Amino acid sequence: MLSLRTAQRALRASAVSSVRYSSTSAAPRSLPSFSMEGKVCMVTGAARGLGNEFCRAFLQSGCTSMALLDLKEEEAKNAAQELTTAFAGVCYGIQASDGNEQDLKIIGVECDVSSERSVQKAFGEIIDTFGRVDAVVASAGIVENYSAFDYPFDRIKRLYDINVHGAFFTAREAARAMIPQGGGSIVLVSSMSANNEQRPLNAINNLQPQTPYNASKAAVKHMASSLAVEWAKKGVRVNVLSPGYMLTKLTKTILAHDPELKRTWESLTPMGKMGEPEDLAGAIVFLSSDASRFMTGSEIRVDGGYCII
Ligand SMILES: NC(=O)c1ccc[n+]([C@@H]2O[C@H](COP(=O)([O-])OP(=O)(O)OC[C@H]3O[C@@H](n4cnc5c(N)ncnc54)[C@H](O)[C@@H]3O)[C@@H](O)[C@H]2O)c1
Repeated sequence: MLSLRTAQRALRASAVSSVRYSSTSAAPRSLPSFSMEGKVCMVTGAARGLGNEFCRAFLQSGCTSMALLDLKEEEAKNAAQELTTAFAGVCYGIQASDGNEQDLKIIGVECDVSSERSVQKAFGEIIDTFGRVDAVVASAGIVENYSAFDYPFDRIKRLYDINVHGAFFTAREAARAMIPQGGGSIVLVSSMSANNEQRPLNAINNLQPQTPYNASKAAVKHMASSLAVEWAKKGVRVNVLSPGYMLTKLTKTILAHDPELKRTWESLTPMGKMGEPEDLAGAIVFLSSDASRFMTGSEIRVDGGYCII
């Protein structure tokens, strides 16, 4: 097992954040099919928030090859270095299939998901680095609050470019890489905001004026099931993870100015609280790993029961 200092030395010595760690225990820490061991994982919007948490979940589940994509190169690379430092010395208790040691390689890549060229370039870098990609999560997304009459069109367009077209570009490049290699798993991050049909009491839009966001997340859900059908026989699965109100940097900033809103969100959630980002860890690993191998075109909601009342 590497010490933190050794890991940091290795980081300084490498432009790409790459170090070696060893696992010492033969005892598996989860069912083998839930393992991300040996899988190359890629997450968009990974510099912070839920995307960053998904990366941590994969690393905790044995992933050792990972790409973090985000809008700003520096933030993506910093996040990759932070995770490398945090996980370099960790003993997972998973026996590496080829012996006692595994490479840990985490790269940060600049990518604007709203630009098809940028997405293609990022995938090119990932394939050049790792040779394949097995699990892709489209988490990059934005939300804004404007009432419908006040929402400037250029901002609506930008939101759809990121939330809808960004998810499509990401999924399409993922499938282009996965089909020749025999398959893979894609997860698109939608939201409970896409689920109004299941919320007779918590009517959609009752708190935040965000019609384009809600529509964008509904589009992502429908996109996933449509792509799932297109690629089902090619070994590429496409599923959806829909979080409820989660405490990320983004929502904490909103709530810092409005503590009453937090109480309202909590009171509308049957479990009586907002979710912590790590509450999504089990669901993202399930959807991205072989544990869900007969599942495609499905959605998992992790929302403390918000959508059932
Ligand atoms: N936080 C919640 O409560 C919540 C609930 C439901 C769904 N979601 C969804 O989860 C996803 C992540 O949300 P979050 O709370 O972590 O948000 P966040 O703002 O904390 O993180 C989003 C990340 O995406 C990046 N990003 C933004 N535009 C981008 C672009 N064009 N290209 C690449 N990266 C870009 C940002 O730089 C940031 O790192 C979003 O799709 C969001 O809609 C969040």
